[in-house]
Amino acid sequence: MLRFLDAGESHGKCLLGIIEGFPAGLSLSEENINRNLKRRQGGYGRGERMKIEQDRAEVLSGLVEGKTIGSPLGLMIKNKDWENWQEKEYPPLTIPRPGHADFSGTIKYGFKDVRKVLERASARQTAMRVAIGSAAGALLAEFNIEIYSYVLRIGQVKARRITSFDSKIKTEINKSPVYCIDGIASVGMCREIDRAREKGDTLGGVFEVVITGVPIGLGSYVQWDRRLDARLASAFMSIPGVKAVEIGEGIEASEKKGSAVHDEIFAPEESEKDSFRYYRKTNRAGGIEGGVTNGEKVVIRAYLKPIPTLINPLRSIDFATKKETRAIYQRSDICVVPAASVVGEEAAAWEIATAFLEKFSGDSLLEIKENSKNYKKRLQKI
Ligand SMILES: Cc1cc2nc3c(=O)[nH]c(=O)nc-3n(C[C@H](O)[C@H](O)[C@H](O)COP(=O)(O)O)c2cc1C
Repeated sequence: MLRFLDAGESHGKCLLGIIEGFPAGLSLSEENINRNLKRRQGGYGRGERMKIEQDRAEVLSGLVEGKTIGSPLGLMIKNKDWENWQEKEYPPLTIPRPGHADFSGTIKYGFKDVRKVLERASARQTAMRVAIGSAAGALLAEFNIEIYSYVLRIGQVKARRITSFDSKIKTEINKSPVYCIDGIASVGMCREIDRAREKGDTLGGVFEVVITGVPIGLGSYVQWDRRLDARLASAFMSIPGVKAVEIGEGIEASEKKGSAVHDEIFAPEESEKDSFRYYRKTNRAGGIEGGVTNGEKVVIRAYLKPIPTLINPLRSIDFATKKETRAIYQRSDICVVPAASVVGEEAAAWEIATAFLEKFSGDSLLEIKENSKNYKKRLQKI
């Protein structure tokens, strides 16, 4: 069973992660993980903190000569800002920001200082999730499963959807300051962010994650918590700020007739000897039917609310005075949809890798490869 735990506060010494259940024999490079961490820190609309941190993950255990040995992988990302915080004394913060865990968390845990909530509720945690997901992505790459993420909308500015996926597309996405290949939309999105900043406001948006090369049969309908669409939705919802998740054409489908929604199945008269014969002409289901992957691309969209920390703060209360006041503004991002798309990519990597290992389980990469190969051979006969 693949599982992870993470720990760490936003201005604590470091973020920690433990991954258990990884097979032996997988090549894992810190450089790969760090490339994704850098992408998470990027994207137009980020705040000052990103100039302080240059996230780098260290793999502390479970790796010998660059290869996993089957034992738990221990990861650490240092918080550079921790040192700065040691030099200053911060008075207790008693005003919760609407839209954050501040209000409920302070009451729930009986704190006098809202900081004790926001330190852990902060999206700083997503740095470790990216590191952990990157390890899962390295496993999937061994089986030619690739994950793409890009921004579809920021505020009101929409980009066109990507329809064909290859390594060049990844380069194109990363070249854009908002991780979006639609040049005109990219410019519009940056302007929208600038306008929001000038007005002391923030923005949300939508990103899409597409996974190619996913075999038929990951996830299951036999128990509610094994449905892969449910697991992906849960993973995406756990990204701070994500308020809705859509698989395939989920939202549009709810307005249409069945005949216009479901993806018909075709069989050619002649099929190539070594390949699976059945195919679809459409993928409105987003690659998952009945909680199980159907061999098509898995397509997920996540909808983010705007950042809750505003330069022009919203009304709130002060727990100390019990009176109404305005929330405080502390250095913050204006828009994090591009960064969140990277987190989504790695959250998807984790869920797909978990389901993949459930299907083709083994203690070593070699064993898993054999299981996957035998399954592929079986598919050719169906
Ligand atoms: C990568 C990333 C960076 C974020 N940075 C900030 C930030 O600087 N300021 C802020 O107020 N919210 C930020 N957020 C959003 C908050 O974490 C989020 O709105 C908050 O946790 C409450 O969201 P929830 O209600 O979905 O849990 C960020 C989110 C992500 C994914």
